[in-house]
Amino acid sequence: MTLPEIENQAEVEIVSAQTRPELDVLQVKYLGRNGVINQFLKGLSIDELKNQGGPVNSVKNKIRAIFLSKYAHLNSQETQKKIDVTTPGKLPPIGHLHLLTEAIKEIEDIFTRLGFVRRRYPEVETDWYYAEGLNIPKDHPARDDQETFYLNQNVVLTAHTSNGQLHEMELMKKPPIRMINIGKTYRRQASNTHNPMFHQFEGLLIDKNINITHLIGVSNYFAGQYFGPDRKTRLRPHHFQFTEPSFEVDINCHICNGRGEIDCKKFQVCKAGLLELGGAGMVHPNVLKNGGLDPQKYTGFAFGWGVERVIMMKHQVTNNLRELYTDDLRFLNQS
Ligand code: DAH
Repeated sequence: MTLPEIENQAEVEIVSAQTRPELDVLQVKYLGRNGVINQFLKGLSIDELKNQGGPVNSVKNKIRAIFLSKYAHLNSQETQKKIDVTTPGKLPPIGHLHLLTEAIKEIEDIFTRLGFVRRRYPEVETDWYYAEGLNIPKDHPARDDQETFYLNQNVVLTAHTSNGQLHEMELMKKPPIRMINIGKTYRRQASNTHNPMFHQFEGLLIDKNINITHLIGVSNYFAGQYFGPDRKTRLRPHHFQFTEPSFEVDINCHICNGRGEIDCKKFQVCKAGLLELGGAGMVHPNVLKNGGLDPQKYTGFAFGWGVERVIMMKHQVTNNLRELYTDDLRFLNQS
């Protein structure tokens, strides 16, 4: 075969090869140690070699290039065959909502099932809604408890969600009222169990003939739904300006089941078998009047409980509330 014949034949065979093993055989056939090209060289006399050396190398290079492009072509065809476009993709790791957001949603869901409507009322509030309208006159010592952030004499970062009560009465104009106001609250405080910003959920139910048994029923429902079955609440007498009578609501601890065992103290929330949920009471007649309602006709109850507090009570994952704001995944992934 002449050099051009070799080149032509190699090209025809390489181009028509269908698989990589076929190509491998052809590569040995043309470029191998005993391949066509080398045989051709061996058949040349010394004189011929002087002239033919260059052209032989260039044919060899051309054949190599044809092999390379054919290999590349077959490779890409095979990769395409291996991809099954109908296979479901691999999901990247997905996070979850923050523990606080999850808890707020869960609390909202529980009260929504009882017909309460989720509200959001101002976190930057005037003195009337925050205090005076809630039966806390100017200079009343009850104001001292909260060491609040005032922006000026009349505007305050609200220290509780109770400001929502008057807003809700004004919005609804007449009962039935069933509100759950969940929002941020602010107090000048910082410790393992206190943060300058925290969250509360405030319930308000007003209608005809509402009494303490309704408050107990709703509290027990929340305790059972949020903390688990068999959780019971207990009312302890207390004082708030905007409720009469007023209570602190406790629930039996689900770790020691109310027995007050030492182990439970690890997370500091269990006190003698009881966990403190927060304040509640029957809405004070003055507050109903300030909200434009007739206290002779309507009665109601209200409660204000802490979101961070119920998270800590439920999950018992830390005794430092501020960890909820750290963005430390080792903590947050515990949920
Ligand atoms: N606002 C009170 C606090 O932050 C909690 C509270 C007590 C809310 C009694 C209420 C209530 O609605 O009736 O300490």
